[in-house]
This record gives sequence, structure tokens and C-alpha cells, in this order.
Amino acid sequence: MSTAMSDPGSPATRVSGLEGVIAATTALSKVDGVAGRLTYRGYNIHDLAQTTTFEEVAHLLWFGHLPNRKKLARLSARFAAERTIPDNVMQTIRALPASTEPMDALRTAVSAWGAGAITGKPTIDQAIALTARFPLFLAAFQRIRHGHEPLQPKPELGQAANYLFLLTGEVPKEEHIRGLNSYLVLLADHGMNASTFTARVVASTESDIVSAVVAAIGALKGPLHGGAPSKVQDMLRAIGTVDNAESWLRAAIARGERFMGFGHRVYKTEDPRSEALREMARVTDPQGFVLARRVEELALDLLQQQKPGRLLYTNVEYYFATLMSSLGLSGDLFTPTFAVSRCAGWTAHVLEQVRNNRLIRPDAEYTGPAEQRFIPLEERS
Ligand SMILES: CC(C)(COP(=O)(O)OP(=O)(O)OC[C@H]1O[C@@H](n2cnc3c(N)ncnc32)[C@H](O)[C@@H]1OP(=O)(O)O)[C@@H](O)C(=O)NCCC(=O)NCCS
Repeated sequence: MSTAMSDPGSPATRVSGLEGVIAATTALSKVDGVAGRLTYRGYNIHDLAQTTTFEEVAHLLWFGHLPNRKKLARLSARFAAERTIPDNVMQTIRALPASTEPMDALRTAVSAWGAGAITGKPTIDQAIALTARFPLFLAAFQRIRHGHEPLQPKPELGQAANYLFLLTGEVPKEEHIRGLNSYLVLLADHGMNASTFTARVVASTESDIVSAVVAAIGALKGPLHGGAPSKVQDMLRAIGTVDNAESWLRAAIARGERFMGFGHRVYKTEDPRSEALREMARVTDPQGFVLARRVEELALDLLQQQKPGRLLYTNVEYYFATLMSSLGLSGDLFTPTFAVSRCAGWTAHVLEQVRNNRLIRPDAEYTGPAEQRFIPLEERS
């Protein structure tokens, strides 16, 4: 870490939330929070979201370059071959109570899949095997908890289309595949976000790739990271109509509540991903878009008035909620769908970490009592 590069024994700098601390080097993605720019290995996210598939972006992250047709076909075939659920994992999924959150089901299924099957230094093959299975685990759990049998994936469909097919049993419409694919591309990696950092910390201990990804799923679940999009939907539902928007937002901010889908640790301007998702949401759900857009405009005005100088803008979660609803995905699948995408980034970071590893082990500033005289149990009052 850059601020902890002091000599051993000299006081290190304490940075709340590790903001601005450089915890690793990475060649995967670059987040420019001031300019509102995101690139994967130098490619602008807008170009990738419009023209590439999730599989191409996963190839870019894992192998370091965009694939040609032959390499893409090879990777797609490997994804297809990995789209299976072993019996022990299916049994684990079936044993989960129907009330389980899908994010918890995903974490449990991934952990069960890793039990005994994955050992040794993380590899690209393991990254592919894990990433290919995320939609299967989620869809199997969703179908079982709603009284349906899991479906077999279709080898001719890619990651986005298979995910929608496995959930609904219908071959999805082209615009829905495009919308979800763009989302998966946009969210695949994002610098040293909390879940990626978590994955790298676990990888740095020379643990296995599944343990790193399970830990990352746990970090992504929190509402300050990936767990907010269904809360955006809750907020939009509570607001209900354009006419109700202003009074609802004013009352919420007066109560000290945060507007879900706004603000970001790094972006101090509009999140470039939310710009792309706004356009997709406009196309896939023109009706829902009207309310979402009006609430966004009002929220931005209010944040500027009430939180001057904080530079709070729309983040990626906001239009994701609108887009997901238009694809027919329920709110409890929003964060797991984020994980379907981010698994590519997590695993790419794990591979990067282990290639040039040093145990990640920061310091803590001790704030407890100074040395105390020990009192034996019988003398304590
Ligand atoms: C994303 C988030 C956690 C980033 O937080 P952060 O960089 O740690 O920022 P802080 O929590 O230090 O907040 C800084 C200030 O902005 C305010 N703020 C931040 N996000 C806000 C929001 N969405 N609505 C209202 N106020 C907000 C805080 O109240 C704080 O104000 P204060 O200085 O008067 O106390 C935060 O913006 C947030 O909670 N957003 C809502 C949840 C969300 O959309 N999460 C998805 C993230 S992709």
C-alpha cells in the first residue's frame, strides 16, 4: 500500500475506509473518477458495452487481449462444457429453505462446488469453470424454490441468453439478451472495489480461487457495495408516481436517509456505466423509464442543494434496477446478477494477485486501553 510504504516501526498513515490508498497494481481496469471514465485493459467501456459479448470481455480480462473469432469460439465451447451442476451441489441447493436469499444460495452453491474439487494455485481453467456456473446455480435455486425443476442450458446460447433461458424456460428476446449482455460487460470489473479487494486479500494468503470468490460474494452482498439495486426498486415503488416524487424525496432526505442509486466512493461525476444503462433502460422499459428519469432529476437537484460540495451523482445501481425489471428479473436477483458479471473480474484479479503475490496484511491503529494490571478471576468485582 502506498501510504504504508514507511520503514518498519515508523508510524503508518491511517486512512478511513482506505480511501485513496493504492493496495495493488493491476492491468485489468482503470477507473477515472474525476473524468467519469472506465476502461478494461485500455478499451473504453462504452465501446465494449455496445459491441462485445460478456465472453469476449472475460477473455480480455483473463488472457489479456480481445479474442479473434477462433479464440472466442474456443472460449464459448469451454463455457458450454462447464455448464453442469454436480450432484452434491444440486443436493445442497435443493436442501436450502425457499426463503433463502439468492445471494446466500449462490454463495453456498459456489462453496459446495469448491468442496474437494478445487485445489492448488488458481488457474484460468478454474476461472472459466466458476464463471460459467454462476447462472446455473442461481437459476436452479430460483426454479426449485418456486416449485419448478431446473432446466438444462442450451449450448448454442451465450452467458446472458442462457441465464435468462434457465430462469424463465423461454428463449429470450434479442433486445433482452442485448440489454443483459451489456450489463454483464459493464460490471465485469471496476478497479479495487470492496469485493475485488476481498478476493485479492484471500488469494494473497495462497488460499484457493473458490474461497476468494465466496468471500467476494459476501462483500458484494452489502448495500454499500452491490446490495442496493433492489433498494432502488423499493424506493421507486414507494414513490409510485411522478407527482409524488418531490415530496417523497424531500421527506426522505429530511429524515437523513440516503437516496439509493446515488453517490460513489470514486466517481465524483456521473458513473459512465449508469450513462450506458440509462439508454438501455429507456429502450427496454419506456414506461418505467419516465418515473425513474424524473426521480433521478429531482434527486440530483436535492442532493446538490442539501449536500453541497459532496459531488453526488447517479451510480450504476440506479438504472440497473429499471433495466432488470424490464427483463422480468425479480428484485432479489439484482445483486446476484451483478455477481454473474463480476465473477470474471474477481477471478482475473485472483490470477493477477497470485502471479506476483505478497500477503496483504495492513496495520490497525490500536484505540483500546493502555496496559492494565491483570486481575485474577476471584478478585474481580
Ligand atoms: C456509495 C456510497 C456508500 C459511497 O459512500 P462514501 O464514499 O463512503 O461517502 P460517505 O458515506 O462518506 O458520504 C459522504 C456524504 O455524502 C452523503 N451521501 C452519500 N451518498 C448519499 C446518498 N445516496 N444520498 C444522500 N446523501 C448521500 C453522506 O450523507 C455524506 O454527507 P455528510 O458529509 O453530510 O455526512 C454512498 O454514496 C451511499 O451510501 N449511496 C447509497 C447506496 C448506493 O447507492 N450504493 C450502491 C453503490 S454502487
